[in-house]
Amino acid sequence: MLAPKCAVGAMAGLAMAVGGSAAQADDLEVYKQMLSDPFANPGYLAADAGEALWQTPAGPKNATLEGCDLGLGAGVVDGAFAQMPRWFEDAGRVMDVDTRIGWCRETLQGIPMAETAKGAFSKRGGRSDMEQLVLYVASKSEGLPIQAPLAHPKEQEAYALGEAMFFRRAGTLDYSCATCHSNTGARIRLQDLPNLLTPEGAAVPMTTWPTYRVSHESVRTMQHRMWDCYWQMRMPDVAWGSDVTIALITYMAKNAEGAELAVPGLKR
Ligand code: HEC
Repeated sequence: MLAPKCAVGAMAGLAMAVGGSAAQADDLEVYKQMLSDPFANPGYLAADAGEALWQTPAGPKNATLEGCDLGLGAGVVDGAFAQMPRWFEDAGRVMDVDTRIGWCRETLQGIPMAETAKGAFSKRGGRSDMEQLVLYVASKSEGLPIQAPLAHPKEQEAYALGEAMFFRRAGTLDYSCATCHSNTGARIRLQDLPNLLTPEGAAVPMTTWPTYRVSHESVRTMQHRMWDCYWQMRMPDVAWGSDVTIALITYMAKNAEGAELAVPGLKR
């Protein structure tokens, strides 16, 4: 596996800075304060909408998702998100929250996984059932510590793959996740870039996604963030729910172990 490579040379093309002008910093602080008011977060409305969707019969089988087993037993939503991704014997796969809900839609409601994947990300300013469902499930773990299990060999395999992918440089720009996310205090175009290798840094995203993204005017899940960062790396689109995305999420969740969930987050 490649070592995290964060030489200054590798950073030069990224317009990264630790500073920034005082005026910019002030404006940014005001903006962040406005974002931090929990009552200003449209994510709560989306979580409520997700709960309604969870309980409403849908799909060819006209069934609800209330019998979905998210890892803690059929029908248990409370606390389940805090312990994902995890191995699911019935599906024969390590799954994150998005893919598990997709699996329940397929098995309980008869909605094919491919259809779920196609509609998973809403357009800017839009909403998708999946974004609302994921947010609902995640919000039922608010305040709980992140404790994705790493006991099953397949969970350990996912972690190892996630770690390898995190450091794997590829694409025309030769970036890896580590190029942008293994430095403490780094910023890109005024956005803080959390160091995902430290517990504090990994906790920044892992406690706050799914999140409401103000610049997208939509709820976004970690699956979308993975797609977005691969896009930033100028890599081909990473498939929704692919093993690589789940592996990366497993890796980051482990790095953030014990941090308390505060979802929905509210982000730029
Ligand atoms: C070219 C630089 C770059 C690369 C490479 C990159 N990212 Fe990102 N990442 C960003 C930027 C920019 C943001 C958004 C920061 C913001 O808007 O606050 C971000 C945000 C994130 C977040 C959410 C952070 C938060 O504060 O909530 C996660 C998680 C993440 N990236 C993971 C990854 C992973 C995993 C990879 C590799 C597949 C990766 N990134 C590759 C630049 C990058």
